[in-house]
Amino acid sequence: VTIRRATIDDLLCMQNANLHNLPENYLFKYYMYHILSWPEASFVATTTDAGDESDSHMEELTTHRAAHAPTKQDPCYVRPGEKLVGYVLAKMNDDPAAQQAGTALNGHITSLSVMRTYRRMGLAEKLMRQALFALAEVYKAQYVSLHVRQSNRAALHLYRDTLEFEVLDVEKSYYLDGEDAYAMKKVLDTDE
Ligand code: ACO
Repeated sequence: VTIRRATIDDLLCMQNANLHNLPENYLFKYYMYHILSWPEASFVATTTDAGDESDSHMEELTTHRAAHAPTKQDPCYVRPGEKLVGYVLAKMNDDPAAQQAGTALNGHITSLSVMRTYRRMGLAEKLMRQALFALAEVYKAQYVSLHVRQSNRAALHLYRDTLEFEVLDVEKSYYLDGEDAYAMKKVLDTDE
């Protein structure tokens, strides 16, 4: 599996992976907006394994995804022979209120997911570390924020324990189904 910067050619497969893995989905133009505005912030994990049978296994449904999850993951090829298995979609905060003088520049993780059969291999951690590094080095982010479902144990472990994000706040009913979110933040090392 290779981790590399995401390009415009990867966006359809990133959207496809997002639809498979998460109930929070976005219009294609929102993916375009990320890549056109912050072309160095988002990353993909891809593999060139030919004949990989693992994608045809039935998915084990978990509670918060049960309502929308498809039963099978079709491989999505970004180009012949190169299959997308994970992505992180990242941006800088462009909320006008946050851009006022004196406000720290901050990055934001819009979405992260890894296809089921490629989980627990360290891919999400690698994708996140690449995005955090790029947000700090290229876009001068002083900190990075994200939201995560309170029930999402895997993602919480990754953010809080592995990547040392802190929980800033609980946002009540942040998600459309009424679940609360943890608003998380990590201060980045930047050399001015
Ligand atoms: N339960 C407990 N801990 C877990 C789990 C799990 N199910 N999965 C991963 N972890 C831990 C790993 O053990 C590792 O911990 P360590 O550093 O102590 O060894 C750490 O999390 C990172 O593991 P990775 O292998 O890098 O994570 P993976 O590639 O499996 O991806 C992810 C984790 C992205 C959460 C994956 O499970 C997934 O795609 N889930 C569905 C989509 C999702 O929930 N995305 C995040 C939504 S929040 C957002 O997008 C901002």
